[in-house]
Amino acid sequence: PPNLQMVEEDSGLERVNCRAKGASSGFKVAILGAAGGIGQPLAMLMKMNPLVSVLHLYDVVNAPGVTADISHMDTSAVVRGFLGQQQLEDALIGMDLVIIPAGVPRKPGMTRDDLFNINAGIVKTICEAIARCCPKAIVNIISNPVNSTVPIAAEVFKKAGVFDPKRVLGVTMLDVVRANTFVAEIMGLDPREVDVPVVGGHAGVTILPLLSQVKPSCSFTQKEIDYLTDRIQNGGTEVVEPLARILRIDYFADPIDVAKAGAGSATLSMAYAAVKFADACLRALRGDAAVVHCAYVASEVTELPFFASKVRLGRNGVEEIYPLGPLNEYERAGLEKAKKELAGSIQKGVSFVRK
Ligand code: NAD
Ligand code: LMR
Repeated sequence: PPNLQMVEEDSGLERVNCRAKGASSGFKVAILGAAGGIGQPLAMLMKMNPLVSVLHLYDVVNAPGVTADISHMDTSAVVRGFLGQQQLEDALIGMDLVIIPAGVPRKPGMTRDDLFNINAGIVKTICEAIARCCPKAIVNIISNPVNSTVPIAAEVFKKAGVFDPKRVLGVTMLDVVRANTFVAEIMGLDPREVDVPVVGGHAGVTILPLLSQVKPSCSFTQKEIDYLTDRIQNGGTEVVEPLARILRIDYFADPIDVAKAGAGSATLSMAYAAVKFADACLRALRGDAAVVHCAYVASEVTELPFFASKVRLGRNGVEEIYPLGPLNEYERAGLEKAKKELAGSIQKGVSFVRK
C-alpha cells in the first residue's frame, strides 16, 4: 500500500520533502478505523487542524485510497496511510494522540452492548499495540460499547504495565453535542452558547444529562425534562432505528423517518464531536489552561471504577476530575439507574481481558 511519506521522499521532489520538514512542530495523531463512516470525516477534519503535524490513517481496508484523498488537502499536516494488522505498529510509533473509531456499528434492533463480541477483540488488539508502540499517547476511544471498551483498554494497559488513568478517555462528547443542540432548540438559544453536562456513560440510561446545571441557567417544565432526557439518551437510536423519530416538516407531504435504517449509526455528528474532543486534548497537551469537557474515564467520583463527568485536560491528559455537583431528585434517581447498568458493562469489559 502506498505509504505517502515514502512515495513523496522517493519521488525526489525537494519541495515535497520541505513540506514534510516544515510540518515538524505540532502533534502526531493516529486514527485507527480511518476508512470507516466516522474515520473518513474525522480524518478530513483532523487534516484541517493546525495543531496536527502528522496524521496516520490506519484501517484493515481502504486506508491507501482514503490517505491519497485526504493528503491532497492543502493544509500542513503530513498524512501517511497504513493498511492491515502488519502495519498497525508502524501507524502507532511516536504518536501523541490515538483516536479509535475501529469496529462495527449498530443496526436497527441492536443495543451497543450487542457490538461487544466483535468490538471488544478489536479494541483489545489495538490497545496491545499501543502499549508496545506509544504507551505515553493520549487515547480517545470511540468504538462501542464505550462503557466496556474503556475498561478493556485499561485492563490491557495494566497487563502490559503501562496503564496511566490520565491518558485513557472514552469519548462521550456526542452526548454533550446532542444535549446542547436539543436544549438550544427548545429554549430558542444559540447551541454554541449552551453547555449541558452529561455524565455516567454512553448507552441508554447510563447517559445522564444534568439539566439542572445547564449554562446559561434554564428553567424547564417537567414535560421538557422528560422529553430532553429521553431524546439525549436515545439520540444514537434516533439515527440508527426506523421509526425512532418521525420528523414533521411542513415542506414534506408526509412525515419522514430520519433514521439511517440499516446503513449504520451516527458518523458525521460523531466525527464533529470526536474532533471537538481531540482538539481539546491537543490544546491541553500544548499547555492551554481551563480545557474542561465531559469524558468517560477511570474515576473516583462514584463507587464505580469508570464514570463520565467533567474533567480538566492538561499536558498529561486528565489533570482533574470534577465532582457531579448538586443533583435534584430526578437526577439522583437517574444516577442510580445509570450506575446499575454501568457496573455490569464495566465488569464485562474487565472480565474479557482477565479471563
Ligand atoms: P464503520 O463500519 O463505518 O467503520 C468502522 C471502520 O473500522 C471500518 O473502516 C473497518 O474496516 C474498521 N475496522 C474494523 N476492524 C478493524 C480493526 N481490527 N482495526 C482497524 N480498523 C478496523 O463504523 P462507524 O460508523 O465508523 O462506527 C465505528 C464505531 O464507532 C462503532 O463501534 C460505533 O458504534 C461507534 N460509535 C461511537 C460513538 C460514540 O459516541 N462514542 C458514536 C458513533 C459511533
Ligand atoms: C451514538 O450515540 O450515536 C453512537 O453510540 C452509535 C450508536 O450505536 O448509537
